Amino acid sequence: MPVTTNVALGVGGGIAAYKAAELARALMERGFSVQVLMTRSAEEFVRPLTFAALTGRKVITNLFSASSAEDTLASAIEHIRVAQENQILVIAPATADLMAKLAHGLADDFLTTTYLAFTGPVVLAPAMNTNMWNHPATQENLRVLRARGHVIVEPDEGILACGMVGPGRLAEPEIIAQAVANVALGAANRTSAKQDLEGETVLITAGPTQEPLDPVRYLSNRSSGKMGYALAEAAVARGARVILVSGPVALDAPRGVELILVRTAVEMRKAVMDHLEEATVIVKAAAVADYHRSNPPQQKVKKTATRLSLELDPTPDILAEAGRKKGDRLLVGFAAETENLIEEARRKLESKNCDMVVANLVSQQGIGFESDENEVTLVLRTGETIPIQRASKSAISHRIFDQMIKLRLALHSST
Ligand code: PMT
Repeated sequence: MPVTTNVALGVGGGIAAYKAAELARALMERGFSVQVLMTRSAEEFVRPLTFAALTGRKVITNLFSASSAEDTLASAIEHIRVAQENQILVIAPATADLMAKLAHGLADDFLTTTYLAFTGPVVLAPAMNTNMWNHPATQENLRVLRARGHVIVEPDEGILACGMVGPGRLAEPEIIAQAVANVALGAANRTSAKQDLEGETVLITAGPTQEPLDPVRYLSNRSSGKMGYALAEAAVARGARVILVSGPVALDAPRGVELILVRTAVEMRKAVMDHLEEATVIVKAAAVADYHRSNPPQQKVKKTATRLSLELDPTPDILAEAGRKKGDRLLVGFAAETENLIEEARRKLESKNCDMVVANLVSQQGIGFESDENEVTLVLRTGETIPIQRASKSAISHRIFDQMIKLRLALHSST
């Protein structure tokens, strides 16, 4: 009998609160045990009794519902119990107000207090008026919550209760329930991840570099760091020591990694070379700028009506240098191409002395830069190519390490 995953379902005070009842049912149909927490404004839209009847469990409303001091203490401690007893926290609808409180760590009711005490994965399903959804304040709160690694189930577009048309409708309960199921599967994989990278020190580069043109401007690219950070998270989950050298990104480093923040290709090269000695595996997922201004001016370049030409020099090729110095380390490069994917990846594999190159067609919509998913082909020294269909960057990271371990075993058996 599979262990039941306990889900805390936080219900915010939006017109879509009634749909949380459908979500509770969809979660229970997937075998989850559901504990409902409601904000006070949610009770204006749907009665707690609805959820109590659905889940068969007491619905928790506000933090200090008690009358006596003893009851208040019991109530205050209850949110810790709820935070500890549940493996996943899902909040639907996540109103603009709730998202703002979560992003800023405010805790003025049971749900927001439980969120602060909760250490597991969080799934948020926003729902609000289109203008509120598009407001910079909401989008900034969303960015903060996404950077914390929370799963955001994007709102649908359509006619809203207020009559407006646009994004802001709560996603379908089945979609939200499936997102929770995917998180539960991922968490199960992580906790049960084979510790088959124990003893390895994995040096990973991630994100873009920024190459100054003057004190104000710089050259960069669209790398978000998600691929590299997913690799770091997967390696930690499998028992590796992880050194993550990261360009400027809007992501929190996965728990347990040693994070080194850099800005330019020159700084990234130094960080990689400083830690090469202790690494047993090197994975170069960063989008390192190929060119930079060797000596950027000290003053901001003044705008004129005439053309501005820039002389750019090649940046240090960190992958090639790591290839020259790798010894018996495993070296995994990436190839970001828009055409001739396999040929280009093979060329890099040979010319940079890699053991494997992860090739991705970054011109393809929905994968590569910035996306949560990727689609890659692993190109090996043996000439073999292993296509990996479109999947989350986390799932692809595990496949890359699965293949890396096979390479390690092949190397050991050949020596
Ligand atoms: O960060 P995300 O938004 O998740 O996007 C992921 C990604 C698209 C950035 C990632 O999947 C990817 O393709 N990373 C490599 C990007 C890149 O620079 O590819 P490239 O073909 O230009 O470089 C080839 C290899 O040489 C890469 O391993 C790169 O890290 C390395 N390189 C490049 C230039 C340089 N000066 N030094 C290097 O080490």
